Amino acid sequence: MSRFSVKNPRRFDWDNIDDAKKSILWYDDWDEATENTIELMQKMGVIKAESLVVDWGCGVGRIASKLVERYRNVTVLAVDCSIKMLRHALSYIKPQYLRKIVLVTDEFILSHTNLFENCADLVIFIEAFQHIPEPVLDQMLPRIEKLLKKNGELFVFGNRQLEIGYKDKAPSTVEEVIKRYFELEKSQVPFQRYAVNVTNLLYGPRPRYGFVAKTKQPKCACAFNKL
Ligand SMILES: C[S@@+](CC[C@H](N)C(=O)[O-])C[C@H]1O[C@@H](n2cnc3c(N)ncnc32)[C@H](O)[C@@H]1O
Repeated sequence: MSRFSVKNPRRFDWDNIDDAKKSILWYDDWDEATENTIELMQKMGVIKAESLVVDWGCGVGRIASKLVERYRNVTVLAVDCSIKMLRHALSYIKPQYLRKIVLVTDEFILSHTNLFENCADLVIFIEAFQHIPEPVLDQMLPRIEKLLKKNGELFVFGNRQLEIGYKDKAPSTVEEVIKRYFELEKSQVPFQRYAVNVTNLLYGPRPRYGFVAKTKQPKCACAFNKL
């Protein structure tokens, strides 16, 4: 198991792709939620032409495949800690889009950060950041920051609060954690959930937030793409 995995690494390990999809979006319509998320990224100005996007916690490749379908010159490094999710991504993503998407484990990237330094224009966490325990984020984020080129951006989408904090402390907000390693650039945009068929009133739909941040340290101007 990866040092950087979720507390319960099996939480997203589903044998069946339908179960995997249900674990990603509980209440939302799959296509509508995907469109809305891409639209929000566009509105917040994070998608640039000819960019390399790292989709951290890519799941079955929902956002990665929509990005390369929509933007001809975007390529994606799709990262997940679950081998089963990555396998589902291989069947979910249409073959023609797999030409522009590389699927890889978090462990591989984090143990070879030097290979990927300064390679990405954008790192996105869609419905993923909040599921990663705070101590794990505190280990990962300085290394993820290294993946970004000069002026590269981080985009986080989902709940406002983390699920799991430090043992003796309530979980921090996403904003607090981002600010430890990045310059928070754009104020969060409250995004009301477009829920359909809500049956579980206990958890119910919650507003979603988008956060855009930039690297704190100015980077070397010659951002050499090592991929
Ligand atoms: C709710 S799903 C979101 C999937 C995808 N981003 C989407 O919106 O369709 C969360 C994903 O994050 C992955 N994940 C959780 N912790 C991770 C970590 N530390 N590194 C990489 N992926 C992780 C899970 O395996 C799961 O596929």
